[in-house]
Amino acid sequence: AGTLGAQAAQSGRYFGAAVAAGKLGDGTYTGILDREFNSVTAENEMKWDATEPSRGSFTFSRADQIAQRAQARGQRLRGHTLVWHSQLPGWVNSIRDANTLRGVMNNHITTVMNRYKGRIHSWDVVNEAFADGGSGQMRGSVFRDVLGTGFVEQAFRTARSADPAAKLCYNDYNIENWSDAKTQGVYRMVRDFKSRGVPIDCVGLQAHFGAGGPPGSFQTTLSNFAALGVDVQITELDIAQAPPTAYANTVRACMNVARCTGITVWGIRDSDSWRSGENPLLFDRSGNKKPAYNATLTAM
Ligand code: XIL
Repeated sequence: AGTLGAQAAQSGRYFGAAVAAGKLGDGTYTGILDREFNSVTAENEMKWDATEPSRGSFTFSRADQIAQRAQARGQRLRGHTLVWHSQLPGWVNSIRDANTLRGVMNNHITTVMNRYKGRIHSWDVVNEAFADGGSGQMRGSVFRDVLGTGFVEQAFRTARSADPAAKLCYNDYNIENWSDAKTQGVYRMVRDFKSRGVPIDCVGLQAHFGAGGPPGSFQTTLSNFAALGVDVQITELDIAQAPPTAYANTVRACMNVARCTGITVWGIRDSDSWRSGENPLLFDRSGNKKPAYNATLTAM
């Protein structure tokens, strides 16, 4: 097939992009989006600071723009993200009472998931809960500090009740290298959840890579998570300087793992990227396909 989405669909997978509501008026941008991609993630619009900037007052206008546009074109939607220490409004960060924070977290999850109920194939229920470095433990955050590490389980249980049809994902970065302590920490959590029946369906590996691309163990990491009985997804792919081989290796690893169900790149053109100085995406600033585009298409 001649496009990323159609090629991925041949093996039952999706190929998505992160989309910004503010760019939907740019015809070059939407031209590529609609031609190439069959899944969409809101780059910022479904985050807590965007959807519940003050307690109990929800604003969905920009998220709705992205969701409605995607739906009208038959593109699938990924939900990103419900519980995250970053892009979190100050009013949440300053809660110190556990019962209050638990109620606030559950209400946020339920309200946002209800808004898009039945329309999101996978939700990043919790994003980036683990610490960098060698500890293999959860990072400090208002959620961990006030609720304890059990906040992750609580979030997944609440999410399952809110939209039973959505796949519930744990999403993180730097969990691509199998031997890293952070990868091992996430692996142990997922294994524990599966053994105790805590609802979790997928692990999202962000895959924000340096120019060397994925670590040599990347496919092993995908397989090992999948062997726990969850799907895996590459959720925020970008690679410094976009070497074609680095993209091909990333995509091949997913294709080689049956439970790797889809790939999302974190933006469309290099100029759209949060790492735009590194030119990490598949289309250049004019919207032309880069060599990494052809390598990606060929690898599927
Ligand atoms: C980034 C967005 O791309 C930027 O526009 C925003 O300023 C900061 O967040 N991990 C994630 C994404 O889960 O939500 C982040 O997105 C990139 C890192």
